[in-house]
Amino acid sequence: MPSQEFDYRDRAEKPTTGFLGIDKDLDVAYDDDVLNLSVGVSSPEILKKVTPLVLEATQHCLKIAETDQAKSLFQYGKPEGPLKTRKLFAEYLTSAYGDKVYYEDLMLTTGASAGVHNLLSSVLDHDGYIFIDELIFMLTYGIINQFSGLKVVPVKLNDDGVDLKDLEQKILKTDYASKNKSKLFWGVYLTVPNYHNPTGITFSDQVCKGLIKIARKYDLGIICDDVYNLLHYDDKIPKRLYSYDSMDDVDYKGHVISNASLSKPISPGMRIGWYEVPPRVKSVLCSKGMLVSSGGFCNYTMTLLASMFETGIAQEHIKFVKATLGERMHVTVNVLQKNLPSSCSFINPGGGYFVWIRLPKGKSAKDLLRIAKNKYKVFYLCGEIFSHLTERDFSNCLRITIGYYSKDVLEDGVSKLCQAIQEFLSE
Ligand SMILES: Cc1ncc(COP(=O)(O)O)c(C=O)c1O
Repeated sequence: MPSQEFDYRDRAEKPTTGFLGIDKDLDVAYDDDVLNLSVGVSSPEILKKVTPLVLEATQHCLKIAETDQAKSLFQYGKPEGPLKTRKLFAEYLTSAYGDKVYYEDLMLTTGASAGVHNLLSSVLDHDGYIFIDELIFMLTYGIINQFSGLKVVPVKLNDDGVDLKDLEQKILKTDYASKNKSKLFWGVYLTVPNYHNPTGITFSDQVCKGLIKIARKYDLGIICDDVYNLLHYDDKIPKRLYSYDSMDDVDYKGHVISNASLSKPISPGMRIGWYEVPPRVKSVLCSKGMLVSSGGFCNYTMTLLASMFETGIAQEHIKFVKATLGERMHVTVNVLQKNLPSSCSFINPGGGYFVWIRLPKGKSAKDLLRIAKNKYKVFYLCGEIFSHLTERDFSNCLRITIGYYSKDVLEDGVSKLCQAIQEFLSE
């Protein structure tokens, strides 16, 4: 509701307030003098390679559309996206994941943000429960907040994934057994099992198996923001939680949803993502008004995506992105291993965008930021911005990202961050 002071006739655009709610004097999102290790976005150097990719794919795709009117990319499409794209993409994912991906399970989306919003509105009771990690990507939290009827329950996160005991105890505290369900799920657990944002952790095999047991026991849906799965920098390809929920099991119903995205491997601006969903979830999603009325999320881009993979240029591009980001992660981890004071620790993620650094307990990342930003010209996000509704204290933690700067700039910036930490801890 607008406040009483709201001027209804003032249409002038207002400057946005402090970056992500951080103190205004620390707002450096667009300050060229300061190295911004806070933003989880692709660098210009990587994004400029998207131009030839899109040009080639567009020419390829327009030629097909010209000769076959039935395949027009300018028409409404199907709720799940074009069959050809899903077949080509399933083939690619099968080889990238090293695990079978069925095109029948795929639905094309405009990325994980829209994907999660659509899921919450389609498969979860409007007065249902959403279990979230006590540390969560703050912008995802903003999406959850758009659903004011939901009850949000934070769950403890350990270095090997969600704390299964805590999750089960919190489920038992709800009225799940007597709740009148109006949608597919009375509750969902929303997480990032691989290269978690913000902590960089990947859920262990044991935690993944335990999660499937809990999901089946309580008929709890699990939404995985699989935004970083394709960005693994060592030979170990992380298994996605979706594949733990095996159809071969006698008690299989289909509880896991992979809500994935090409924003990081290709481009956030193009808005391309996908769901990998069990049959019962797919049938609900494909029948919902929004996707039926709009003919899928975006028939044009989804058709273009087929050409990107049919010509092989998308595969080549993702290889390049992985190699570039892998080098950046390697450099970052090396600098931290050499220069971070021994009283601190960090999680070496092996993939994704983020490195989570812990200062000694009682030392505030926000206090450190004043030295880091003002003297060493390095900016990052403090742990508190990711923690919601939890009693645990993350004020000694900080998140840096490897996505935006070249490896040389990162090497210098992370070294400066380590110097700032050394100075701060010796005060
Ligand atoms: C956990 C998580 N979910 C969602 C997103 C947004 O993804 P998309 O660009 O596909 O909407 C991000 C991107 O930073 C993310 O880290």
